[in-house]
Amino acid sequence: MAEQPGLIKNIIKKVVVGVVVGAMLVGVARALKFPPLFQIMFFTYAMLGTAVFILLDAPSVKPISGAKALVSLVVFYIVLSGVYIGGASLWPQYDPEDEKGKIEKLLKAKRAATEQGKAEELLARAKVLSDKADAIMQRLQAVGGSSVAEGPAGTDSSKPSGVPAAAGDLVALGKEQWELQECYNCHKLEGKGGKKRGPEMDNIGNLMKPEELKEKVLDPRSWMAEGFEKEYEKKKMPDKYKELMEEKEVDALVAFLSSLKNTSVNTPKPIKKK
Ligand code: HEC
Repeated sequence: MAEQPGLIKNIIKKVVVGVVVGAMLVGVARALKFPPLFQIMFFTYAMLGTAVFILLDAPSVKPISGAKALVSLVVFYIVLSGVYIGGASLWPQYDPEDEKGKIEKLLKAKRAATEQGKAEELLARAKVLSDKADAIMQRLQAVGGSSVAEGPAGTDSSKPSGVPAAAGDLVALGKEQWELQECYNCHKLEGKGGKKRGPEMDNIGNLMKPEELKEKVLDPRSWMAEGFEKEYEKKKMPDKYKELMEEKEVDALVAFLSSLKNTSVNTPKPIKKK
């Protein structure tokens, strides 16, 4: 019994120290901008520590044994589990439905973005296809139109202006491609075209072999016109004919370009790039 006042004094002392330590922890946590939940947590730790120190000073209990010990152990286990499970289920952020809702919200914005991306890509592809269809239609009209107009008349004398014959017609088809693919937008030929500056083409037939011309059309990076370094660097000449033109059309265009041999025009020297 003589112990009692000493014990209570001791407990009070430890509680005071615990509260002071807890308050200091909260102060530091606040200075470091921890959220309030963490400040409460730190304070709780200080209190738990205090409780442990108080328990260390508690008078020893009489040892229990046998069935009594077993029952106390099981009860202790049940109470502790109850506290853990009950406590944990009080935290709202562990509700799976809550979590799903948050994830859904994040994904929704992402999904909308990719969906729009896909739609734009499809539109761009559709445009390329429709351009190509237009080009083919124009070409069919140009080729078919004349043979339909004059073909049915059917006599041999209609031949020159009728169904295309080999070599000269390839060049004619190539000239058509020059127009259809709008090469004239950048390249002057016979003094026409070339609003956006590219080299004049009148003498290209003397400067580049057919294979080389084909290379340049299919891959504009393959050759560079001398003096057009800046334009080459800026990739002015479009890299799209590979997709837009059929093999035969490229061959025709090349035949046309090869026929351009006007030495009085200064077509720049082509330089092999790759
Ligand atoms: C948007 C502008 C543009 C269009 C359209 C264009 N080109 Fe070009 N092309 C250039 C420019 C700029 C150069 C010079 C720089 C270079 O060599 O890449 C060039 C260079 C060339 C050269 C090399 C000339 C030389 O002297 O070395 C050839 C050949 C050529 N183009 C053919 C064509 C053909 C054929 C077409 C159409 C199928 C075409 N280009 C469409 C801009 C264009």
